[in-house]
Amino acid sequence: MTVDQLVKNRQSCRKFTGEPVASKSLNTILEGGRLAPSAVNGQPWHFYAVTSPTLQAKVADALQSFASLAGAYIVVVETAPTLPVKAANRLKGHQFPQMDIGIATAQMVLQAEALGIAQCILGWFNERKIRVALGLKKKQRIRLVIALGHAKNPEVRPKKRKAVEAVITYV
Ligand SMILES: Cc1cc2nc3c(=O)[nH]c(=O)nc-3n(C[C@H](O)[C@H](O)[C@H](O)COP(=O)(O)O)c2cc1C
Repeated sequence: MTVDQLVKNRQSCRKFTGEPVASKSLNTILEGGRLAPSAVNGQPWHFYAVTSPTLQAKVADALQSFASLAGAYIVVVETAPTLPVKAANRLKGHQFPQMDIGIATAQMVLQAEALGIAQCILGWFNERKIRVALGLKKKQRIRLVIALGHAKNPEVRPKKRKAVEAVITYV
């Protein structure tokens, strides 16, 4: 698939079959995140690949109910900023790590799409429950969870998006 096809076919899956995700696919998806670009190459992330049934059940308990039939989860945790990242954040008045995590997540879902693995990015979850399940410290913020699996209905839905002129200006 071309990148154009991947971008057009990717969609949030909210009906999974419950089938597992092959470890080879999961590794390739994670590599998509690991190789992502980041501000001053800070790589402010750690990806927890949740595949054990016991941990999956604990993570699922912290997510919206549809995600319990996913075959694996990737929990995206922000790591402490390096000194150059701290300086860049301060000088530019941005939070670059959260942008970086968004980009890494985008690369992972597109990689998943290329492998025929359905996905949903989740920002709405019980952070404390996942933190306890993974044994993380309170200061380790869980920014996103990616639910991965097999779609009950892989048909591509029409995209609901703002009009071109509302979001793009040629100047
Ligand atoms: C940062 C982020 C957080 C999201 N959080 C959730 C979520 O908690 N639950 C959910 O069902 N979808 C979530 N989504 C999916 C969006 O709702 C979805 O991308 C958007 O409606 C566009 O639909 P599409 O992904 O099918 O193209 C999230 C997406 C992003 C990028």
